[in-house]
Amino acid sequence: MNITPHAGAGAEISGIDLRTLEDRDFAELQRAFARHGVLFFRDQMLSEDDHIALAERFGSININRFFAAHRTRPQIALVTKEPDQAANIGGGWHTDHSYDEEPALGSILVARELPPIGGETWFVSMYRAFDALSDGLKGTLMALRAVHSAAHVFGTQSAYRQDADTSGGRIGNAEAADALGDPVHPVVIRHPLSGRPALYVNPGFTLRFEGWTEQESRPLLEYLYSVATREAHICRFDWAPGSIAFWDNRATWHFAQNDYAGHRREMHRITIAGCSLQAA
Ligand code: SIN
Repeated sequence: MNITPHAGAGAEISGIDLRTLEDRDFAELQRAFARHGVLFFRDQMLSEDDHIALAERFGSININRFFAAHRTRPQIALVTKEPDQAANIGGGWHTDHSYDEEPALGSILVARELPPIGGETWFVSMYRAFDALSDGLKGTLMALRAVHSAAHVFGTQSAYRQDADTSGGRIGNAEAADALGDPVHPVVIRHPLSGRPALYVNPGFTLRFEGWTEQESRPLLEYLYSVATREAHICRFDWAPGSIAFWDNRATWHFAQNDYAGHRREMHRITIAGCSLQAA
């Protein structure tokens, strides 16, 4: 197995077939995942059942409550955009499931249909974002917790719900998003796999620091987001048939680019259950 770190975030893995991973290679993959936060694979020929089997080696599958599901395999969430649709899913920096008490470990995204050009997914590392801060700010953040929510993204008042494209079959179950509680997580977590400190707020789902108003929280959150998304921190993954990305939600953010108007893109996503998060 070859592991080639990317500039910015993650590492590309080659020399393995994800359908027939021996235990030794699987253990090395687990170590690489903990270390790099997102792994990229090329030329993998996973069927839908292979995709499910691979995810199940890493943990139990978290069935998505808001995305449309695969017709016969509910474990697979569909991330699609039709040629006549304007909005894409995941088109802003975020990490999945921070709105859950036990945020998902991560997701395995498989490319099924790609536009001729564009449609990259960008990643940044939350280890790197934390490491880039001053010792003073790191100390301040370690004492803070933040409130996260799904309601403004998937709920009845969300932009997805107001938009006919996304509410028309791609995103649903808005009432369930409204009904979810807003969990509070440490702003700096001790990563459950690597033990390293990682920044754990994100532009998609973080509302505010606990005990602060949204207005008070905004400037500091914006500063943290600007550090996390510095040009040098971004890894741009260009998809090809057979490409796979496997990211850790506790160590990375991602951003699906929406630059392929008039073309279809279909991705299959399986999300793996995680655990509650501890402060660093
Ligand atoms: C997502 O946010 O999970 C979607 C990523 C992508 O479609 O590239």
